[in-house]
Amino acid sequence: MLKLFGDRLWPRRGQPAHSLSYANRRRLDIARALAAGPEVLLLDEPTAGMNPTESHELADLLLEVRDRFPQMAILMVEHKLDIVRKLARRTVVMAQGAVIVDDTPERAFAHSEVAAAYLGKGGSLSSRPVVKGHLDHAPAAKMPGPADSPAIELRDVDVHYGAVQALFGLSLKVGRGEAVAVLGGNASGKSTTIKTVLRLARPSRGEILLHGRPMEAKTTADVIAQGIASIPEGRRMFAELSVRDNILMGAYARRQVPKAELDGDIEKAVAEFPWLGKRLGQLAGTLSGGEQQMVAMARAWLRKPQILCIDEPSMGLSPMMVDRVYEILARWKSQGLTILMVEQSANKALELVDRAYVLRNGALSMEGSADSLRRNPAVRDAYLGGAAAPDHPPQGAPVPCPGN
Ligand SMILES: Nc1ncnc2c1ncn2[C@@H]1O[C@H](COP(=O)(O)OP(=O)(O)O)[C@@H](O)[C@H]1O
Ligand SMILES: [Mg+2]
Repeated sequence: MLKLFGDRLWPRRGQPAHSLSYANRRRLDIARALAAGPEVLLLDEPTAGMNPTESHELADLLLEVRDRFPQMAILMVEHKLDIVRKLARRTVVMAQGAVIVDDTPERAFAHSEVAAAYLGKGGSLSSRPVVKGHLDHAPAAKMPGPADSPAIELRDVDVHYGAVQALFGLSLKVGRGEAVAVLGGNASGKSTTIKTVLRLARPSRGEILLHGRPMEAKTTADVIAQGIASIPEGRRMFAELSVRDNILMGAYARRQVPKAELDGDIEKAVAEFPWLGKRLGQLAGTLSGGEQQMVAMARAWLRKPQILCIDEPSMGLSPMMVDRVYEILARWKSQGLTILMVEQSANKALELVDRAYVLRNGALSMEGSADSLRRNPAVRDAYLGGAAAPDHPPQGAPVPCPGN
């Protein structure tokens, strides 16, 4: 089963599962499910945490699995339209708990109701005006340090997890008010880069500077106390706490502020995301992925940060939700928030950010302005799903339906 996944899992077969990158954990989930020899395979977002190239690699593998186990039925939940087009024979599109369309992928996605409820506005972020809302970025204070110093800088950083080296001499800068993306394949060290800034991973070599000075923070709590908010990979809700308490957790570093002010902040979050109103008492672990992302954004906003670190914001979200997330990030960016993001969906990220760094096996392979990277054929082929529009790649050959 591990060998099915080529060199992704086999060489790591002796490692603890928690040490795998998010995408490799997804692969492991699938291998484990297949090992049970099921009659029905249930896949919930199998390509989460994978960029377009990796998503297609997994889709090809699932096509092979489908041929090898023709008796097995597959029910998959997936937001990536090109993956659905490639794999699914039937597509059921749902909104608010009800089915709106049940058809072939092509016909389903062409349906006007589907477009309205699910696909979002389409078009590029940069072609749309910044949307006004209730959660605004208003820097509480000027950033400390010399005005021309970067907000964040990594200099020649190595990170090891035990014997595994995850980063090799990485250097990067995020200027004040700048939005910067770290792109790259699965297990290339993207999350580790953010974890290094947050002191969740320790460099074995190199320096981290904050506002032009060597970072003095010893713990993640110290980093957060310096005006940094984090939205981690997979959002990381406190599953057993209410939605309200999860949002308030963002204000932990501001806990000296009066309760009335925090209540006002919660009200603003509800004004931004009206569905939240009825769910403040619900356990956060029971929210959908999209809802969790909104809560995570509200939580980060309550930190009133000067710098936001966000890992894979579009992961597992419907196209409409991805638009919503990026709309808010674009608003905050226009209001001066400094953003360091990691993103599997390079296309989306490059519409938002000013500059990006591309990692390969833990080392820097390319860097440049978002524009230049978008136009770079090497980046396009590896991370943007090829030269075709990423949501509409050429379709694979139709696969015969066994048993029909
Ligand atoms: N806690 C850990 N223990 C051991 N290895 C780890 C740990 N976290 C990450 N790694 C390894 O570091 C590499 C980079 O991981 P990560 O930064 O999560 O990649 P990405 O976010 O680009 O997918 C991977 O090979 C992964 O297996
Ligand atoms: Mg990651």
